Amino acid sequence: MKFFVDTADIAEIRALAALGMVDGVTTNPSLIAKSGRKITEVIVEICEAVPGPVSAEVTATEFAPMLKEARFLRGLAKNVVVKLPLTMDGLKACKALSDEGVPVNVTLCFSAAQALLAAKAGAAYISPFVGRLDDVGQDGMALIAEIVEIYANYDFGTEVLVASVRNPMHVVQAAKLGADVATLPPAVLRQLFQHPLTDKGLAAFLADWAKTGQSIL
Ligand code: E4P
Repeated sequence: MKFFVDTADIAEIRALAALGMVDGVTTNPSLIAKSGRKITEVIVEICEAVPGPVSAEVTATEFAPMLKEARFLRGLAKNVVVKLPLTMDGLKACKALSDEGVPVNVTLCFSAAQALLAAKAGAAYISPFVGRLDDVGQDGMALIAEIVEIYANYDFGTEVLVASVRNPMHVVQAAKLGADVATLPPAVLRQLFQHPLTDKGLAAFLADWAKTGQSIL
């Protein structure tokens, strides 16, 4: 399973990439706004820091301007994946760009029907938002199970990129379902390392070791 980080904070990305756990990055207009920086600078810097796919999202909502923005973003670095919203214009642009060989991440997916359309439009990734579904009382992970099943039925090449992840259980459930990728807020990626019994066990080992008066080197 691949881990992407869902942030436009370059310091966070560099720190997590140094752990060897970052296969790619996703951004969105809200995350770029939060960074307080110019989208072009941020995307170029992220692409230099992480060799894997880096999603950069268009903000146009109509087909022709979407294509223009998508081509501009794609031109920023060879690992840019263009992120398009799951609308009619978005999927029309997805089909056109995919046919040209441009990788597209279709975002804001909230139903299996939408995911099926994105795969037919040639999306490289589909991003179902599990946390936002949970927030409105629906089961985000049930959607992941449906999409994984549908894509397997037809051997679609579109990768299931679990988005809007809120906690480590989302990651574990996504892995059990065979999702290809999870994009994690930095805090959730850090949480994956933690277990109180690990801390307690290590403290006990070190206390016992100190009593021996030995050192390994
Ligand atoms: C996905 O690519 C989005 O950037 C992101 O996962 C949305 O997460 P949120 O619901 O926490 O904003």
